[in-house]
This record gives sequence, C-alpha cells and structure tokens, in this order.
Amino acid sequence: MRTLVLHREETAQGPLILVNAAHPLAPGYLPELTAADCRFPGIQLERQAAHLLTACVQAAGGQGAIVPVSGWRSREEQQAIWDGTWKAEGEAFTRRYVAPPGCSEHETGLAIDLAERAEHIDFIRPDFPDRGPCGVFRRLAARYGFLQRYRSEQEALTGIGAEPWHFRYVGAPHAQLMEEHGLCLEEYAAFLAEGPKLCTLPNGRNVRVSRLPCPGERVEVQVPEGCCQISGDNQGGFILTLWGDLP
Ligand code: DAL
Ligand code: ZN
Repeated sequence: MRTLVLHREETAQGPLILVNAAHPLAPGYLPELTAADCRFPGIQLERQAAHLLTACVQAAGGQGAIVPVSGWRSREEQQAIWDGTWKAEGEAFTRRYVAPPGCSEHETGLAIDLAERAEHIDFIRPDFPDRGPCGVFRRLAARYGFLQRYRSEQEALTGIGAEPWHFRYVGAPHAQLMEEHGLCLEEYAAFLAEGPKLCTLPNGRNVRVSRLPCPGERVEVQVPEGCCQISGDNQGGFILTLWGDLP
C-alpha cells in the first residue's frame, strides 16, 4: 500500500467533476486538449476523451456519418453562445439548452456535441438520432466511458432539457455504473457515499469505486500498488477507482 496526500483544491479537477449551474468550474481550469476528430481540427477535447471518442465512433461504424459539432469551449465562447442564444431564442430556451458561462461541461473539454452528418446542422440542438451509426454509438457509449448526459427524465436534477446529442466523458466504470443504476452525474457522489461499489467491465476486469470526502484542507488515503485513478468530484470529495484483483 502507499499513502497519498490529496488537497482540497484538487477536488475541483479530474474526469469526474460535476459541472452545472450550482457547481461552477474552478476559475482558470484548462485541460490538455487535442482535436476531437482529425478532420475537424478546430473542435477540441481533453486528450483521453478524444482518444475514446474516436474509438467509439469507429466501433459504431460512424466515421464520416457522425460529426463533432462542439467540444471544448472557453468561458468567453460559452458567454458568446449564451448571449447569442438569449438574443435569438429568448431566456427560457437559453436556460433549457445552454449552461451559464463558467458552468458548462464544455469548458472541461470532457463534453462533445455530436450530429448525424447533414448539409445543415443546428449548433445548439444538433440532430443525433437513434438509428444507424448514431444509435449504435449511443448504445456503445458507456463502454467507452461516455454518458448521454441530459435525459428528459432527469431534467429536474440536471437543470437542462433533454440533449440526445451531448455526451460527457467520465470513464468506463463510471459510465457503466451510472447506466446500470439509472443515475445522472448529479446523483453519483451520493450513490458512492453509501459505500464502495463494484463493477465488472465487458473485458472481465473488476473495478471498485469509492468516495472519499475532504472536509478539511487535505486528506490522506492509502491505495494499493497498481492501477488506481483519483478524480475530484467538484463537491468537496474524491472518487477513487481501483482496477484489478480486489481485496
Ligand atoms: N448545452 C449544454 C447544457 C451546455 O451549454 O453546456
Ligand atoms: Zn453540449
């Protein structure tokens, strides 16, 4: 075992951070970015999310049929989208489909809007149907670590209308656990706080996921040697993911 010291400010970083109107992104957050799709170099994503997006699109047979519409946005871009949508569509529509600046998952580099290839694609509400490669992508997404983030039945929790085109990278064990239990990201930290959760990935690997609160300035945790991921949850805690032969 080894001991790690985690600091409170790190609870606002990592692939499992909750970002919504009540949980803004830490100021100055800047992920390591790369093109979401080499044919669209202007649309960027966090490196691991970009890699797994490409793998999922390929597995779905979606090369050429599935196109990225919007990936990472700076806070200024989110502000411009908010202002432009408000002017064109009004307040109710804007609040339903655009996150307030500083509170958009797009600013993390972990969210991607996807569309079915078409001559005209709506930037705010692209069409990403359930048929063809888009439907296959949706069904494979959790295996590659992506969640369809905004569902109609979870609107009261997310504060955003249904967005079949918006996928959020969280990593495969977490996407699988949330899908199996019908949870959105707003519910995940409380679910883990009930106690550690186990899941078996499609490749047969076992994973244990737990939550560690950080009530003070720092917290110590003992982790086994081997494969371990620690992410902040942006709610004052950390989510620990351990792969392999679990004790
Ligand atoms: N459309 C999503 C909610 C965003 O603006 O981040
Ligand atoms: Zn989006």
